[in-house]
Amino acid sequence: MRIGILTGGGDCPGLNPALRAVVMRSLDFGHEPVGLRRGWAGLIEADTTPLDLEIVEGLINRGGTILESSRTNPLRKEEHLARCLANIAALRLDALVALGGEDTLGVAHRLHQLGAQTVGVPKTMDNDLNETDYTVGFDSALSVAVDACDRLIDTARSHRRIMVLEVMGRHAGWVALHAAVAGGADWVLIPEVPLDLDEMCGHVSRLRARGKNYGLVIVSEGVDVPVADMGTAAIDAFGHVVLRERGVGEFVAKEIEERTGFETRLAVLGHIVRGGPPTAFDRVLATRLGLKAAELVNNGQFGQMASIKANEIVSVPLEAAVSELKVVPRSLYEEVKVLFK
Ligand code: F6P
Repeated sequence: MRIGILTGGGDCPGLNPALRAVVMRSLDFGHEPVGLRRGWAGLIEADTTPLDLEIVEGLINRGGTILESSRTNPLRKEEHLARCLANIAALRLDALVALGGEDTLGVAHRLHQLGAQTVGVPKTMDNDLNETDYTVGFDSALSVAVDACDRLIDTARSHRRIMVLEVMGRHAGWVALHAAVAGGADWVLIPEVPLDLDEMCGHVSRLRARGKNYGLVIVSEGVDVPVADMGTAAIDAFGHVVLRERGVGEFVAKEIEERTGFETRLAVLGHIVRGGPPTAFDRVLATRLGLKAAELVNNGQFGQMASIKANEIVSVPLEAAVSELKVVPRSLYEEVKVLFK
C-alpha cells in the first residue's frame, strides 16, 4: 500500500516521533509511506515528500514536524475537497494517516465518509480531543508551562508580587489546570468555568492577610473576559478566533492589581510551549500511537483513530473522536481548588 501521511493544525512536540513510528511500522509491513507537506494543503496541492527509514530514524527527540503544518481546511471549499479526492487517486494513495486535533481529524473523518481510507493519530497540546486520555504534545507543553511557573514564583517572591501566567488552550483548560497543580499556583482560570473576579481577588487578598506576600495565578487564553470589541479579530480557516489578540492575561493582571493592591505582572507563554524536544512521556505516547496507526492501516481498519485509554493503546471511531471536545469536568476543577489556601 502507498500511505500518505500528514500533520495538520498547530504543531507541538511529539509529531516527529509519531511520524517516525508510523513510517517504521509501515515499512515493516512492506508498505510505501509518502509525506504530504503542510497538512491538508499538501493533499490539495499534491505536494509530497519522500519518507524512508533514514529520514525518520533520528526524529525521536526533534520538536516541530518535518512535514510542516497548516490550518488549511479543505471542507471550506467544494473545489478543495474535490482536489483532495482527485489527488488521492492521482498520487495512488491507498491510505491516509492524519496526525492532528479535532479540526484535522474532522477532515479525515469526512474524507472517510466520502470513501477515502483514513486513520488518525491524536495530537494537540490542548489535550481536548475526545475518546483519548491524552493527546501527543500535551505533556511537553505542560512541562514548559510548569518550568515557567517555577521561574515566575522565584521572581514573584523576590518582589512581593503576583505573577499572572497566560497559557494556550483554546477551548479547554487542561494545560492551565495541570500547570496550576504541578506549578503550585494560587489560582487558575479556565474556559470551562465562568470568570468570577470577586472570588479570585478575594482569595488573592486573603494570601496577604495570612502572611503570604507573593503569588502565581494561571489563566488560560480561552477564558471569557469582557475585553474590547472582537469584531475585527482574525479568524482561522476552521473558524476559530485568534485568541492571543484578546489580551486575557492583561485584563486579569490589571484587575488583580486594581482590586487587591498587589503589584502584578504578566507573562504570556504563547507558542513557547509548542516548541522544543518532546518529553519522554510524549516520545513514548507518540511512538505507541504511531505504531498502532500503522497497524490499523495494515489491517484495513479505516475511519479509526489510535487512542490511549487507561494506558492501553486501542482504536476508536474517528467520528466519536471529533463529535465533541473533551473539556475539563467541573468536578476536577473543584478538586484542584482545594489546593488554593
Ligand atoms: O490548537 C492548539 C493551539 O495551540 C491553541 O491552544 C492556540 O489557541 C492555537 O493553537 C494557536 O494557533 P496558531 O499557531 O495558529 O496561532
